[in-house]
Amino acid sequence: MNVRRFIEKSLKEIKEIVYENKVISACSGGVDSTTATFLVHKAIGENLIAVFIDDGLRREGEPEFVVKTLKDLGIKARFVDAKEEFLEALKGKIDAEEKRKAFRDKFYKILGKVAKEEKVKFIAQGTIKADIVETVKGIKTQHNVLEQIGINPETYGYSILEPLKELYKPEVRMVARELGLSADISERMPFPGPALSIRILGEVTSDKVAIVRKATEIVEEETKNLGTFQNFAVLHNDKATGIKNGKRVYGNIITVRVVVSEDAVTAKAKQVPYEILEKVSERITNEMSSVVRCLYDITHKPPATIEFE
Ligand code: XMP
Repeated sequence: MNVRRFIEKSLKEIKEIVYENKVISACSGGVDSTTATFLVHKAIGENLIAVFIDDGLRREGEPEFVVKTLKDLGIKARFVDAKEEFLEALKGKIDAEEKRKAFRDKFYKILGKVAKEEKVKFIAQGTIKADIVETVKGIKTQHNVLEQIGINPETYGYSILEPLKELYKPEVRMVARELGLSADISERMPFPGPALSIRILGEVTSDKVAIVRKATEIVEEETKNLGTFQNFAVLHNDKATGIKNGKRVYGNIITVRVVVSEDAVTAKAKQVPYEILEKVSERITNEMSSVVRCLYDITHKPPATIEFE
């Protein structure tokens, strides 16, 4: 791909489609949505407002990171605190696809509300080719793919602008670098749209979010130098017997997943040095009172997927 040509063509197309209208851009702080947001900002400047929805399911420190990133890039931004709303929407949902549907519905309803308040017709988002391909193949309905599963975005009251939808992750990173985004963004580890909700097997509760968030932080810290595609923790829905303070407890199980991948379509479980795995396990079980067992996932994609849900 010729990155410069891609950027020039995108800027022209965005200007043509949007003309003098205002646009809001759903930005989670990930490489895809931040690159899409910055591209639209470059095309239409002040007519773009980025929207960060705090769904309460982000990694530790993430809302602050996104707000600062957008500010540093000079992009006008709105912050929507929807933590309670998402928890409520996910309440009682056990099935992975039902959880995704609940997340998607809430996400687009909130965006629709903001679009109405800001009187905008267009919503930009960072959908990439892999999201669409996985959804169309029937692997999982990625939260940001609408038309391909028969949902007309107009039902939420707006049109969707997806400047990166023909690109895979390595190409998005090339665009991000060419646009001058910092390595904090262009080299960022992917994070799923429905966030920690799909790394909590079964029902999502605020206690479980806190557990998986802390485990994620430990895994990311201890594996950050491996150069892998995605490193994270998953909280199981069942429990196991363990020993804490010399007494039997029935506690939580965490699985650690570290994968190598180019484009997220296939992936290999990384052969992480054993000392690192041991350190992760020790930290997770020592620093988190409720966790008694830590597992490492050695399954490739396929037959597994990268995320558990
Ligand atoms: P899977 O689990 O399908 O994940 O192997 C492939 C890549 O996509 C991310 N992922 C998502 N990203 N919305 C997103 O924006 C989603 O609903 C979603 N589900 C999975 C996942 O983290 C991996 O990078």
